[in-house]
Amino acid sequence: MRRKLIIGNWKMNGSPQSVTALAEDLSSGVNNLMLGSVDAVVCPPSVYTAAVVELLAGTSIQVGAQNVCAEALESGAFTGEVSAQMFAQLGCKFGLVGHSERREYYGESDAVVATKCAHLLAQNITPVLCVGESLAQRDAGDALDVVSGQVAAIIEVIGIAQFLSVVVAYEPVWAIGTGRTASPQQAQEVHAAIRQCVAGYDSVTAERMQILYGGSVKGANAAELFAMEDIDGALVGGAALDAEEFCVICKSAE
Ligand code: 13P
Repeated sequence: MRRKLIIGNWKMNGSPQSVTALAEDLSSGVNNLMLGSVDAVVCPPSVYTAAVVELLAGTSIQVGAQNVCAEALESGAFTGEVSAQMFAQLGCKFGLVGHSERREYYGESDAVVATKCAHLLAQNITPVLCVGESLAQRDAGDALDVVSGQVAAIIEVIGIAQFLSVVVAYEPVWAIGTGRTASPQQAQEVHAAIRQCVAGYDSVTAERMQILYGGSVKGANAAELFAMEDIDGALVGGAALDAEEFCVICKSAE
C-alpha cells in the first residue's frame, strides 16, 4: 500500500507576513488533522525556505525546494542559484524538478532536469519529477507518449535503481492554474501509463513509486482524484496558498 503525499507548491507568491501567517495556519491545521497515512510538504519560494523550516519545526509538515541549481551540487560561481546541498543543510526533504513553468520559461530540457534529479538524490532529497503534456499534444492524441517519454528520459540518465527514490507528478499543462482539472479517469489513464513505462525497467519500482496529480486540485475535487488506483496524492498550486483548503485536500487523502 503506497502512502499518500500532498505537496503545496507556493510558486512565486507571498510576503514575509503572508508566508508566516500561512505557515502558522498550516501548522495548527495539519496538526489537528492527525494524519496517519498522508505526508504533507510545502515548497515556498527559496528566499523563505529557512523561515518556513523554522515555523514548521515540530510539526509533521516537511519543507521542499521549488527548483535547484543544475551546474553544481554544493557551491560555486553561479549567481542567483541555490544548490542541492544548501537546501539539504536547511532540512529540505523534497525538491521539485522539471515543472512545466520551468521547462517553458527557462527552457529546461530533459537533460537539465535529469542533472537536477541527480543532485537532489546526492543530497538525500527526494526529487519530485514533474511531467505533463500541452493541450496541443493532448488534442493530437500524444499525451501518453509525451509523458512516458519525459519519464524514460530521466531513467535513462540516472538509472532505474536511483529512480526508486523519485516521486513523479503528472501535471497536464492545460490544467495548471486554469481551473480545468483532468477528470479522475483522464488522470488515472496517464498515471497507469507512467507506471507501465517504469515497469518496463523494473516492476517493483513501478509498484512502489508514488505518482501525484497536479493541475487545479482543490478541496472540492481531491477525493475523487485520490479514489483512483494509481493516484497517490497531489501537487497543489493555488489552493496550497489557503491553509484551510490545503488541509481539506490532506484530509481527503486519508
Ligand atoms: P494549480 O493547482 O494552481 O493549478 O497549479 C498546479 C501546479 O502547477 C502545482 O505545481
